[in-house]
Amino acid sequence: MATTDYISVVGMIMMVIFFSSYVWADPDMLQDVCVANLASDITMNGFACKRDVSAHDFFFAGLANPRSTDNIYNATVTQVTVRNVTGLNTMGLSMSRIDFAPGGLNPPHFHPRASEIFIVIEGKLDVAFITTDYKLYSKSVKSGELFVFPRSLMHYQINNGKVPALALAVFNSQSPGIQRVATALFASSPSVPNHVLAKTFGIEIDEVKKIKSRLAPKI
Ligand SMILES: *[C@@H]1O[C@H](CO)[C@@H](O)[C@H](O)[C@H]1NC(C)=O
Ligand SMILES: *[C@@H]1O[C@H](CO)[C@@H](O)[C@H](O)[C@H]1NC(C)=O
Repeated sequence: MATTDYISVVGMIMMVIFFSSYVWADPDMLQDVCVANLASDITMNGFACKRDVSAHDFFFAGLANPRSTDNIYNATVTQVTVRNVTGLNTMGLSMSRIDFAPGGLNPPHFHPRASEIFIVIEGKLDVAFITTDYKLYSKSVKSGELFVFPRSLMHYQINNGKVPALALAVFNSQSPGIQRVATALFASSPSVPNHVLAKTFGIEIDEVKKIKSRLAPKI
């Protein structure tokens, strides 16, 4: 290969790497709308488009009301993904509403397919994420303020205040996915062997069993 060809090939590869680092959200739309046909037998990356589209496909009323926080974390995440609003298919967007009782915790978790903008609507929340070099970035965020959680990095939010708190989150994926760390390790199915967890955390088998029984059934 001539040196000039070689240079242009290397140049092209570098450009692909450079641009692909910006294409980390969902793929782009190829048409105005592609409302998901959740019942389609066609499996693909996303959902096949349905034929008869109406305004209803782009509407959702399920975030209007406060959700009960009567659970072990005293916080409730209400997700609105492409499965709830089929019109989101191919749009690279979704949302959540998170209700926190005083003391409520949205426990450490991450979203494999999306970065997140987290906006506090009511109350105040202490939030944090942890990078892959184990640095913790934390902040107190109050009503009207927002915080950003980078894609795939572990994060949590806790209401250390005396009044309930409410937040909305926006994701750059129609289906960001959520993996809660405690649930993944202690409430998977089939379960992670007790001795693996005992050794991982330096605790006794009995303590592993206690945590497992607290987290089951899956939350
Ligand atoms: C917190 O959760 C517990 C159940 O785990 C429940 O008894 C309590 O009422 C909850 N508190 C609030 C304010 O939701
Ligand atoms: C959204 O859809 C998922 C999957 O079908 C469902 O589990 C969840 O309850 C729905 N969320 C709301 C707010 O209705």
